Amino acid sequence: MADAIETRRHVILGTGGTIAGKAAQPGDGVGYVAGQVSVEDLLASIPSLVGQPLEIEQVAQVDSKDMGFALWQQLATRVAFHLNRPEVDAVVITHGTDTIEETAFFLQTVLRPAKPVVLTCAMRPATALVPDGPQNLVDALAVTRHPGAQGVVVVCAGQIHSAADVSKVHTYRVDAFDSGDAGPLGCVEEGRLRLFRPWPTACETGSCDPVALQRIQSVQALPLVMLLTSHADADGTLVHALLSRGESASGPAVRGIVVAGTGNGTVHHALEAALLEAQAMGVRVVRTSRCAHGPLLTHPGQLLTVARSLTPVKARIALALELLEV
Ligand code: SIN
Repeated sequence: MADAIETRRHVILGTGGTIAGKAAQPGDGVGYVAGQVSVEDLLASIPSLVGQPLEIEQVAQVDSKDMGFALWQQLATRVAFHLNRPEVDAVVITHGTDTIEETAFFLQTVLRPAKPVVLTCAMRPATALVPDGPQNLVDALAVTRHPGAQGVVVVCAGQIHSAADVSKVHTYRVDAFDSGDAGPLGCVEEGRLRLFRPWPTACETGSCDPVALQRIQSVQALPLVMLLTSHADADGTLVHALLSRGESASGPAVRGIVVAGTGNGTVHHALEAALLEAQAMGVRVVRTSRCAHGPLLTHPGQLLTVARSLTPVKARIALALELLEV
């Protein structure tokens, strides 16, 4: 069994984040700079991984608050390249916690990989007295080795979350992630997995979805989809500003607006009036909820489309990718 594991190949892609963060003082868990330590050095610091057949590639070195489409394009291309190599069983990506749920959702939506792609991270920098990154990396590799593992997942603090459900819910705690009502997909205990539900769905052909990948590779930017929030005293100022931005004969530059509504996706009447104007001008408007948990329940007569169970940030990505197809 040990031999079988050792002959498998895994590719580790580094993108930065707190897992690669460095502070001037070892005890400083806040005043550090993300994306400083190379993924090679991170792996070299974990004794149990030394000598394992891991291929390492530093794709980027960023604080994930600065994540954007160009890097997603590059990451999706590298992930697909490696997964299409028959000798590669899985890809692990080290990433900042702040937008890991968005990158995971983007990669799952675009690639729907038939092999596992495991994103992992840390809440404490590599220089912390007790960093959490090394254990998360070891757990991520345990997930890649599990028979039947597929799709994009996030591994943090001993939990496996599906790309569709995971959200960062805490600013500081080491177990900063939650999968809402769906719950985690499973957990990692001493290198062994306990699964609670099925892996994310994979595309039917090959390792990744080639059509969706080519689509994102062929553009310089995603269609412009903005995210607004409904709140007390909200009005249509931002919607009107968006509608007038780069307006041309073919309509406004903004192609979509996702609104994070209150409760069950309700929107302040003044903001809603402006959103209906936008919709009448051909802008796709999608309602989501500011609430951390629960789907949006629909009823007849509602004038704005809903993203039933996506968080606002994921609905923004879903809508932008959908608009790329039309
Ligand atoms: C980041 O997202 O890159 C910084 C914060 C973190 O990783 O926890």
